[in-house]
Amino acid sequence: MIPTLKWTEQGVDFLDQTRLPFEETYLLATSYQQVADVITTMVVRGAPAIGVSAAMGVALGVKHSQATSLEALTPEFEEICRVLAATRPTAVNLFWAIDRMRKLYQELAAKPGASVAGIREALIAEALKMYDEDIATCRTMGANGAELLPKQGGVLTHCNAGALATCGYGTALGVIRAAVENGAEIRVYADETRPFLQGARLTAWELLHDKIPTTVICDNMAASMMRRGKIHAVVVGADRIAANGDVANKIGTYGVAVLAKEHGIPFYVAAPWSTIDMETATGEAIPIEERPAVEVTHHGGKQLTPHDADIENPAFDVTPAEYVTAIITERGVLKAPYPEALAALDDVKVGV
Ligand code: MRU
Repeated sequence: MIPTLKWTEQGVDFLDQTRLPFEETYLLATSYQQVADVITTMVVRGAPAIGVSAAMGVALGVKHSQATSLEALTPEFEEICRVLAATRPTAVNLFWAIDRMRKLYQELAAKPGASVAGIREALIAEALKMYDEDIATCRTMGANGAELLPKQGGVLTHCNAGALATCGYGTALGVIRAAVENGAEIRVYADETRPFLQGARLTAWELLHDKIPTTVICDNMAASMMRRGKIHAVVVGADRIAANGDVANKIGTYGVAVLAKEHGIPFYVAAPWSTIDMETATGEAIPIEERPAVEVTHHGGKQLTPHDADIENPAFDVTPAEYVTAIITERGVLKAPYPEALAALDDVKVGV
């Protein structure tokens, strides 16, 4: 399995996804600030991977703290959390992971006899547990969703919701992997995913690695591929799912969902429960990250647009719940009406 990120004695080691597919290099983050930087610059990306990276960033920050008392450590801990939380606003897994680390910190700090050393060890153990849980969750999601895909045919995906976007196996690509493991003969159509090209660079790379037949298409080819009968299902990941089932995912996902509906093709979203945000009522309230204009104006260091062109670069869009055929999670496959379906499973803890 492709190691997206790894906790080491020296720091957190990240597969540098900005250099894929041609260079497989690792970047070692030795401070929590570096982890934050690695998340912002998308060396690591994908909502579940961002969450676990942030948890490891918190653990790393506390590990390197010079504080000798909890009184000194607590404000430092909050600063570490603040810096990591300021990296990518749409992926709710980031906040979920930081909150989980904070809850553990507060619980341990409130105990009589709590020590800096004890908290340090516990936070590292928690981040490692989240890493293992993420892989197990992806596998369960894969098993839950595999039967929804055709036994034979084309499956379109947008962006990269694979092993590279998680600690391993993937969400949308995990469902595809599980279907292929069950004998399905699937050809994946990978949208290139302008402007950062996660589909062309990352999805194609990791599926080729697993020998799963893959065809890269430009984003503007999806409609025609559907009309020509090449696509039998769509499966994508998510950065945040609101309580009513609206889905924030990579910019362009909404267009794919509309096209799928027009062509009568099922549109599935695969995401772990840590991507579900029951505190956010609808997609309208999901913050959408605006990324630097240079990602649109330039490619491979070469300028594509006139100097004075106005640019917008929203990294995500929202697909209204009505376009979603099912949401595949580790707790089960959810169908509309989503407010009820999500609420029903919200306090169910499935062991992974
Ligand atoms: O900007 P990115 O590359 O972090 O966006 C990633 C996506 O949009 C993924 O589809 C989403 O995070 C789910 S990853 C399992």
